[in-house]
Amino acid sequence: MFAGQLAKLKGCRVWEVQETDEKVNLLKDELNFDDAFNYNKETDFDVALSKYFPDGIDVYFENVGGEMLEAVLNHVNKRARIPLCGMISQYNQVWTERQGIRNLLNMVGKDVKMEGFMIGSHIHHFGDFAEDIEGYIREGKLVSKFKMNNGIESFLPSLVSLFSSSNVGKVIIEVNK
Ligand SMILES: NC(=O)c1ccc[n+]([C@@H]2O[C@H](COP(=O)([O-])OP(=O)(O)OC[C@H]3O[C@@H](n4cnc5c(N)ncnc54)[C@H](OP(=O)(O)O)[C@@H]3O)[C@@H](O)[C@H]2O)c1
Repeated sequence: MFAGQLAKLKGCRVWEVQETDEKVNLLKDELNFDDAFNYNKETDFDVALSKYFPDGIDVYFENVGGEMLEAVLNHVNKRARIPLCGMISQYNQVWTERQGIRNLLNMVGKDVKMEGFMIGSHIHHFGDFAEDIEGYIREGKLVSKFKMNNGIESFLPSLVSLFSSSNVGKVIIEVNK
């Protein structure tokens, strides 16, 4: 949600894939995304991506992995870029049972660049980033959605909720001294 809004602020045309119609409508109506689709309703990702990206994909911000990454690689444009932030669909499986990506070869023919990153490696930019984000939120250019849970005892249900699509926006745990 944040990455998409930031891309929009930088002038990109942005689509996002979400799990519920409520989230799809939020992105389109409130956050000004160019489009979004519900991956539980449009389950053939290859067909969905053909429909939503007739001109192909230039940048795919990867948070999901598995089937979605494989489908995206069938629709990338020449010199597309794929920053690897995470692959949440694959975390709860031992690595030998994770879904392999069969079409990595598409990266060769299209000069695609895929690169992993960890936030910690860019922490020296945090001051500038926080200043930019604060400004965008104050000016109403960036909308922050979150669900606040109370107390350290809410840690486990909060963590589990990340995998069950029960939240809209970030999950924050408030802990009082
Ligand atoms: N590289 C780094 O330094 C770094 C740091 C922090 C986090 N991350 C990664 O960034 C991603 C987002 O993390 P976050 O902490 O910001 O979580 P988040 O976006 O607040 O919540 C995770 C979301 O992932 C979606 N999801 C869960 N299971 C899924 C599945 N099987 N297929 C597709 N989507 C699924 C759910 O969205 P829906 O309800 O809409 O399906 C859930 O709300 C994760 O992949 C995480 O590992 C990377």
